[in-house]
Order: sequence, then C-alpha cells, then structure tokens
Amino acid sequence: MERGKFISVEGIEGVGKSTNIDVVVRRIEAAGHKVLTTREPGGTPFAEDIREILMNRNDEPIPEIAEVLLMFAARSFNVNNVIVPALEAGKWVVCDRFTDSSRAYQSGGRGIPMETIDTVADWVHGDTWPDVTILLDAPVEVGMERAGKRSAPDRFEQERHDFFQRVRECYLQIAAREPDRFVVIDTTRDIEEVSSDVANLIDEILRG
Ligand code: TMP
Repeated sequence: MERGKFISVEGIEGVGKSTNIDVVVRRIEAAGHKVLTTREPGGTPFAEDIREILMNRNDEPIPEIAEVLLMFAARSFNVNNVIVPALEAGKWVVCDRFTDSSRAYQSGGRGIPMETIDTVADWVHGDTWPDVTILLDAPVEVGMERAGKRSAPDRFEQERHDFFQRVRECYLQIAAREPDRFVVIDTTRDIEEVSSDVANLIDEILRG
C-alpha cells in the first residue's frame, strides 16, 4: 500500500483556513484518493478534551511551558492514533495546523526558544512532518477583521495585535527556511483567485 501524503494548513486567525481546507479535500477526493481531515490541537477524543482546556479555560494562568506541553500532548494522540495509521492505510491526511503552529505561536508569539519547540517536536513525532505545508498569509489587520466577525474570542483570539504580528513573521521566516515543504499563499486577494491557486497546488502534488 502506497503511503498517503500529509498536508498541513497554517496561518493566523481569519486567513481562510476552513474555506481552503475544503478546496484541498475536494480536489484530492476528485482525483480518487481517500482523505482524512483532522485538526490541532484536537483530532481524537482525548486531544479534543485537551483543546477545550487550552482554548477556553481561564480560571488559572496557563504557564507558557504548560501550553507547549499540552499542545504536544494533544499532537501525540493525533499523530499516533489518527495521522500515522491513516497515512499507512494509504489515505491522504489534511491537518488544520501542526507543529508549525507551535513554532509560530509558542516561539514567535510567546517567546519560547525555537530549539525547545523543535526538541519536543522531535521527541513527540520524529520524522513525521507534513510533505507539504500551505501557509495562508494575510496582514494581521485583515485576519483580525475577518476573525472578529465570528463568535466569542477564545484564549488565543484575546491576544493583541503585536502577538499576531510576531506569529505571522515567525511563520514567514519558517517558510523561507524550508522552501521545499512550504507554499505561501496570499489570501488578501479574491476568494476565487486564492482557491484556484490552492487547487493548482494540489494538482501539482497529485502529479508527484
Ligand atoms: P483554530 O484551530 O481554530 O485556529 O484554533 C487553534 C488555536 O490554537 C489558534 O489560536 C492557534 C493555537 N495553537 C497554538 O498556539 N499552538 C499549536 O501548536 C496549535 C496547533 C494551535
């Protein structure tokens, strides 16, 4: 059985992850592959419980290190119980966020050293990295304007502009460092243009 491909989708809030994930999934399915979609933090019942704590518990300060460890605890469940079994069964996996989110938010945003994140990443998932990471990019103001129209803000959405500015810059730096894995897509353009870029990218991956 040929191993499926692992695709992650990244970006700050409001850049259009859900819409573009739909485009990715439909395109891969249209080519006849089975697709499993998952998200982080989350993706398994246990990891979804960790997500609930991370996003919505405000009764006690969450130390930054605890935030990193909880993100990776959730990731460990998702990698071992969902992602790797699906890839081995030949399915393609589309993950809404992966370790690049920990790099961008916990290192770029919170200031935890990148080496710390990468050491934990190596420990938790070794060589299991996405084959392709789609970074949906837009200026913070644009993302916040779009995200602000949704429901009550979670613990991350309550962060300020400069936090998201650091997150965005960190994403762009990681993408520049790993050009073979990353594709950066400017989502300030018309939705049709963005979707068409995403669809073309998937076609390219499908062609191998
Ligand atoms: P979202 O999936 O609805 O975008 O929300 C997930 C939030 O969690 C988002 O604000 C980014 C944050 N996050 C991290 O800070 N680190 C991580 O490793 C992951 C996966 C998400």
